[in-house]
Amino acid sequence: MKKITIAIDGFSSTGKSTVAKQLARVLGYVYVDSGAMYRAVTLYAMQNQMISKDYFDVEKLIANLGAIKLSFKYNDTLGFAEMYLNGVNVENEIRTLEVSQSVSQVAEISEVRRMLVLQQQQMGQEKGVVMDGRDIGTVVFPEAELKFFMTASAETRAKRRYKELLERNDDVSYEDVLKNVESRDLIDSTREDSPLMKADDAIEIDNSNLSLTVQFEKLYALAKNAIEHE
Ligand code: CDP
Repeated sequence: MKKITIAIDGFSSTGKSTVAKQLARVLGYVYVDSGAMYRAVTLYAMQNQMISKDYFDVEKLIANLGAIKLSFKYNDTLGFAEMYLNGVNVENEIRTLEVSQSVSQVAEISEVRRMLVLQQQQMGQEKGVVMDGRDIGTVVFPEAELKFFMTASAETRAKRRYKELLERNDDVSYEDVLKNVESRDLIDSTREDSPLMKADDAIEIDNSNLSLTVQFEKLYALAKNAIEHE
């Protein structure tokens, strides 16, 4: 059976990665979390004092992009690939609110985007990939056979993310999480380079009131149909 490319875009905390992982697992496809790559570059900038709450040395980050080596390694126990930054597993560290508070500024930089988009396209060369992010259906794989655009209200999304951060024992407030979700939405959808937007041929899924099971069944049916028609 022919393999296809599945692109899942949408606002932060819309559950893209949950459904992308489920789809990849049942289809035997590779799942790529493109946001993890932007988060890892952000972590690198934080570790090297290039960015903090009210400071960002863009030129220094651009000059050092060659020193950032990103890779994914599949973790059998978890059932998905974890993010490595220069050989170190950073899967946990990149999910903090602190990284979330800087990542959209880093993702605005065209030099960063060029580097990551190229790597993402290489990972999808053979098809059989489910990739989630902000520009997958518009920029990374405009020819993807199946595209989804996920939405949900900001409050629903902030509640989901707050719960996730509490489960990790992160010391955060709901208000800060909501503020972060809203501010990233704004930066991500208004930036000049590859803003977050729905591709013309993407199927919009509002999952504010969908259970994970119902959401998965819906996307899986559409994926099976797209694969059968290839
Ligand atoms: O998990 P969540 O949906 O909150 O975000 P993410 O997918 O981990 O992405 C983190 C950030 O990276 C986003 O807010 C965007 O600023 C940026 N990003 C991007 O610009 N393009 C992508 N393809 C993926 C993420």
